[in-house]
Amino acid sequence: MTALTLTLLALLLVAGALLVLAPLRQAGVSDPDALRRSELETERERLFAELRGLTAAAEGRRPELENRAARVLRSLDGLPPAPSGRLPAGWLWGGLTLAAVLVGVGAFSFIPAWQLGGLNPGEAKTVKTAVLLPGLAERAKANGSVPDELAWGRAAFDAGQYDQAAGAYAAALKQNPRQPEALRRLGIILLTRDDTQGQAARPNDQAFLLIRTAAQLAPDDPESQLLLGFALSRYGQDTLALNALERYRSLNPQGRDADEMIAVIRGRQNSADPGLGVYAANCASCHGAAGGGGVGPSLLHAGLTRASVALIVRNGKGAMPAFPQISGKSLDELLAVVEGWQK
Ligand code: HEC
Repeated sequence: MTALTLTLLALLLVAGALLVLAPLRQAGVSDPDALRRSELETERERLFAELRGLTAAAEGRRPELENRAARVLRSLDGLPPAPSGRLPAGWLWGGLTLAAVLVGVGAFSFIPAWQLGGLNPGEAKTVKTAVLLPGLAERAKANGSVPDELAWGRAAFDAGQYDQAAGAYAAALKQNPRQPEALRRLGIILLTRDDTQGQAARPNDQAFLLIRTAAQLAPDDPESQLLLGFALSRYGQDTLALNALERYRSLNPQGRDADEMIAVIRGRQNSADPGLGVYAANCASCHGAAGGGGVGPSLLHAGLTRASVALIVRNGKGAMPAFPQISGKSLDELLAVVEGWQK
């Protein structure tokens, strides 16, 4: 826990104590009218008792007694209100303890969230894992077990400490190379490290191999497909990259990590090949961004001839609508794309 948290906690406790102790201190303040008040109260009780006890013989004194009682009551009314009486000390100390406990529990449970309140979820996670990092590193270095190395690598990766993460994942792989998470994350670290060292033009084969192996070991893990798509697009394999990224999106429908990459690759394809632009605009929603299939069947390696595709585009087929508006040059370009996929 940080010094800031502890300071805030202490301030809250002091503030809580002052609030609860306030009536305790006030009760000690003397009432300046106490003497007069008690005199009048005694007088009132005396007069009331006398009135109650009046015998028939002394009935003549009643008006005078009533008169005096009325004056006493008026005087009492004229005094400022008495400060409220002192509460039993037990209650106050009980209240104080309860308040201290509540403040303490409240502070411990809300301060971390409050401190992280200004961060978005990703940043908050980064902060949390960064805080855990030294402890995990120490444990991994002390016993070097695979789960500890993986825990350290994961925390370092999530905190953006890629050098540490690479070291931890490499240590875990040395003991057991069949670990998809360690493979792909080490691979992506190596791949992007090349970028920062200005070697983007020559992709790192070893890094790519790590990522591809991870995707083969864990094909249904969304991150496997996401990083594979990233690595493939780095190698200029845009179609395969789109397939992997679409796979990622179907494995993790909430994941938005691939959206930007898909848009970039599509934009690149559209400007490089106008036929892909026609495909993206008309067919990709059903047949997948790279023809891999979706609502409609896969168009890859389906043995489709140019003429049969042209017929289907013009007339539609089953649930697929017709696209009579695609003709001439755009139809030729589109057919070339689908034809290219059959090889
Ligand atoms: C609304 C969804 C949808 C769109 C958009 C769509 N298709 Fe299709 N497509 C289908 C469906 C569904 C089938 C399967 C029809 C059947 O066999 O009954 C199909 C079948 C096909 C086939 C035959 C595949 C095979 O193996 O027999 C081809 C080729 C094809 N579509 C090409 C295209 C092209 C090119 C476009 C864009 C111009 C396109 N489709 C747009 C839904 C769609």
